[in-house]
Amino acid sequence: MAKKKNKEKTRIHFDTDWKYDPAPESVEHIKVNKQYEHYIGGSWKSPNEGKYFNTVNPASGKRLARIASGSTSDIDDAVAAARKAFGPWSALPGKERGKWLFKLARQIQERAREFAVIESLDGGKPIRESKAVDIPLAAAHFFYHAGWADKLTYAFPGRNPEPLGVAGQIIPWNFPLLMAAWKLAPALATGNTVVLKPAETTPLTALKLAELIDDLGFPPGVINIVTGAGDTGAALVQHPDIDKIAFTGSTDVGKEIQKSIAGTGKKLTLELGGKAANIILEDAAIDQAVEGIINGIYFNQGHVCCAGSRLLVQESIESKVIKKLKDRMSTLVIGDPLDKNTDIGAINSRAQLKTIQKYIELGAKEGGEIFQCEGSLPDGKGFWCKPTLFTGLAQSSTLVKEEIFGPVLAVQSFRTLEEALTKANNTPYGLSAGVWTDKGAKIFKMTTKLKAGIIWANTYNKFDPASPFGGYKESGFGREGGLHGLSAYVTF
Ligand code: NAI
Ligand code: MG
Repeated sequence: MAKKKNKEKTRIHFDTDWKYDPAPESVEHIKVNKQYEHYIGGSWKSPNEGKYFNTVNPASGKRLARIASGSTSDIDDAVAAARKAFGPWSALPGKERGKWLFKLARQIQERAREFAVIESLDGGKPIRESKAVDIPLAAAHFFYHAGWADKLTYAFPGRNPEPLGVAGQIIPWNFPLLMAAWKLAPALATGNTVVLKPAETTPLTALKLAELIDDLGFPPGVINIVTGAGDTGAALVQHPDIDKIAFTGSTDVGKEIQKSIAGTGKKLTLELGGKAANIILEDAAIDQAVEGIINGIYFNQGHVCCAGSRLLVQESIESKVIKKLKDRMSTLVIGDPLDKNTDIGAINSRAQLKTIQKYIELGAKEGGEIFQCEGSLPDGKGFWCKPTLFTGLAQSSTLVKEEIFGPVLAVQSFRTLEEALTKANNTPYGLSAGVWTDKGAKIFKMTTKLKAGIIWANTYNKFDPASPFGGYKESGFGREGGLHGLSAYVTF
C-alpha cells in the first residue's frame, strides 16, 4: 500500500493533469440516532441481555451508532411476534398486502436521498452508486412485488399458492438496503411474515426502513428486525418455529446453515459467493468492454458476489485490452464515499481490508505481476484499497480460484472459445459471467455452455426485479427476483 502523505487529503485522483473540485453530498438532512434497538412486534425493544455493538463509518473508522446485539431470547421474541402476525397478514386480501408494499416503495423513493447518504456513510460505497443503483433498485423491488400480491393465482396458474409462514432472513453488507428489499418484498407479497437480520457492519438502512415501516403504521409483527452478528444469525436459523431461511453471504456460512437445518423441514434458499469470468472475444467493441470490465470488478469496491473478478481475454487483443484497462484505472477517483466524483469508496470493514490485502500479497508470491496506479490513498483511519490488476497468474493460483470480494482483478488469456469456456467453468462457483463479442451466434454458443446463473452479454452488473438471480454449484441454490423468486415463498 502507498504511504500517506498529505494530511488534508480526503480523496485522490491519479491523473496528474487535472482534478475534479470536491463535490460532497450534504449530510445536514440526515438523522442517525446515537443508539438503535431491535424492531419487534411494531415497537423498539432493548436487547434482553443489554448488549450493544458499534457500527462505524469505514471512510473514517469513526462510530456512527450503537446497535442492539440480538441474543437467542431476542430472536424468540421476534419469531413469536412474526408468528402472531402471520394469521392476520396471510388472511389479508392480496390487494391489501399490495397496498402496503406500494406504500413502502413510494416512501423509499420519497426518502431516497436520506437512504443513499446513510448507505454510503455506513458501508463506504460511493454516493453515486447508492443514489443510482441501491436505492432505486430497492424501491423497484417493492413496486414489482406489490404488483404480484393480488395476482398470485396468475403467477402460478391452476395452482393454489399458500404462504410458508415465518421467514428468517439474513443479509450481507455489500448492498444492505437492496438485500433487505430482495428478502422482504417477495416474502410479504405472498403473505409470509419476517424476521430480518442485517449485517453487523451495515445495519443502519434496515433500521431506517424499520422507522419508515413504523411511521406508515404497518401491522405490528409482520416485519421484525433484529440486529447482531453471526451468533444472532445462527439463533435465527436454529429457531424451531421458523418455516423458511433465506441467506445471502459467504459460502462457508451457507454450508453451515445447510447442515444445521438438515432434516428440520425448513425451506432454504442460499445466495453465496462467486468467481465470475468476464470473457472478451477479439471481435468485441473494446472500449465498451473495458468499461464493462471496470464496472464488473471495481464497482462497489468489488464487494459484489457477481463481480467479474476474472478477466478472460482472447490472446490476439490481450495487450491492447490490458493497456486500455490500465489507462482507465488511472482515471478512477478513490476517496470520500460522499463525494459525487468518487468512483471507488472505502472497503467495508477493517477485517475485509485485511482479507483483500492478504490476497494481494499472495498473488505476488504466486508469481503474478501486479498493477496498481500511482498516487497515495486518502489519509485518516478509513479502510482503503487501490484498484488492483494481476496478470501472469496460473489457472491453479489462489487468486484465480478464490473469491476475494475486493477490487482485485485476475487476468488470463485464451486462444479458442473452447479454452475460454473450460477456464471460465473451472471453478467451484457458478453465479455469473460476462461475454463480450460482436457476434450473436457466439453469444448463444457461450451462454448455453457457461455454468452460471446470470450471464450478461455486452454489459455487466445489470439488475432488474423481474429477472431471477441466483447460482449453480457452491454459489448456492434458489432464485431471487421474478417468478422464480416468488415461488421460493409459497407452497402448493
Ligand atoms: P458472512 O457470510 O459471515 O456474513 C453474511 C451474513 O451472515 C451477516 O449478516 C452475518 O452476521 C451472518 N452470519 C455470519 N455467521 C453466521 C452463522 N453462523 N449463521 C447465520 N448467520 C451468520 O460474510 P462475512 O464474514 O461478512 O464476509 C466473508 C466473505 O464472505 C467475504 O469476503 C466474501 O467473500 C463473502 N461474502 C459474500 C457475500 C455475497 O453476497 N455472496 C456477501 C458478504 C460476504
Ligand atoms: Mg458501518
